[in-house]
Amino acid sequence: MTYNRCGNSGILLPAVSLGLWHNFGGMEDFQKMKEIVLRAFDLGITHFDLANNYGPPPGSAESNFKNILQSELGAHRDELIISSKAGYLMWDGPYGEWGSRKYMLASLDQSLKRMGLDYVDIFYSHRPDPHTPLEETMGALHSAVQQGKALYVGISNYDAEMTEQALDILEDLGTPCLIHQPRYNMFDRWVEEDLLSVLEKRGVGCIPFSPLAQGLLTDRYLNGIPEDSRIASESISLEKDHLDAETLVKIKALNQHAEQRGETLAQMALGWILSRKQVTSVVIGASSVKQLEINVATIHNPKFTSDELAAIDNILLS
Ligand SMILES: NC(=O)c1ccc[n+]([C@@H]2O[C@H](COP(=O)([O-])OP(=O)(O)OC[C@H]3O[C@@H](n4cnc5c(N)ncnc54)[C@H](OP(=O)(O)O)[C@@H]3O)[C@@H](O)[C@H]2O)c1
Repeated sequence: MTYNRCGNSGILLPAVSLGLWHNFGGMEDFQKMKEIVLRAFDLGITHFDLANNYGPPPGSAESNFKNILQSELGAHRDELIISSKAGYLMWDGPYGEWGSRKYMLASLDQSLKRMGLDYVDIFYSHRPDPHTPLEETMGALHSAVQQGKALYVGISNYDAEMTEQALDILEDLGTPCLIHQPRYNMFDRWVEEDLLSVLEKRGVGCIPFSPLAQGLLTDRYLNGIPEDSRIASESISLEKDHLDAETLVKIKALNQHAEQRGETLAQMALGWILSRKQVTSVVIGASSVKQLEINVATIHNPKFTSDELAAIDNILLS
């Protein structure tokens, strides 16, 4: 594994981190998810990314992770960076989502209980709340650190302008923001406009999520929709409409380009993101040990020449 420094902090993160959003919930095979997590650790993945709502049902990924920690991985707690987040709907009534102090801190307590942990390494505001003062949400992150329930804080899904504001508030409070978690992949490049330069300027790390566009940027859908795929599972996050004819043409052209480089499309898509100097780590999902191994092997693949990057841009912008 390669480890990259997270912004200006003392923390190194693995170039590839594992997220437990899909495939780790209460409906999944526990033995299989345990194998994926343990193989990840053996491959040098020290960072596992969770959130209060990962499942389904919400919370079940954290509960399953607790079982994996208690049965195997717990002895290695000091070798792990475990993150959780609060922002999306978790419980009934007006205090069960968004960014109030009430919700954020109650949610963190619940996450710690579900995972059987005294603290998380990173606690995130999962999404900006348009109705709560940013000072309140950032103040809750700061309190989590002061209470010893989180070592570092992060933000996710904040645009560049709100990110700057959040970083200022956190800096004033004395709890600098460690990391930003935005969506970023070949099909969704919004961060390139200004977020990446803000993060670089401010010394904050960046860990893109859904780097494979939930599986579209792999060989998964080259010849139809496999029965065991995310699209076939009728997940609301990735629907059949996302795989329209135009997208499939691009996927096939990218796949050909990856073959010319002697790698899989998944590896090319991950390497492409990791070639950005502002990116600390990519947080991938995996539904099998094999996918995980393919993705981690990306770190050994050749760098991109400027001609190759231009050829990829041509495909994406065509
Ligand atoms: N902060 C946020 O708002 C937010 C939002 C979303 C995600 N996240 C984080 O990001 C993590 C990753 O998100 P994601 O699951 O959407 O990431 P992703 O890496 O873009 O997609 C993962 C899916 O791609 C397919 N796949 C992965 N490797 C493959 C390979 N080598 N060959 C073929 N197919 C492959 C699998 O799909 P199949 O299941 O079909 O096999 C896998 O479940 C989450 O677990 C979470 O931690 C954060």
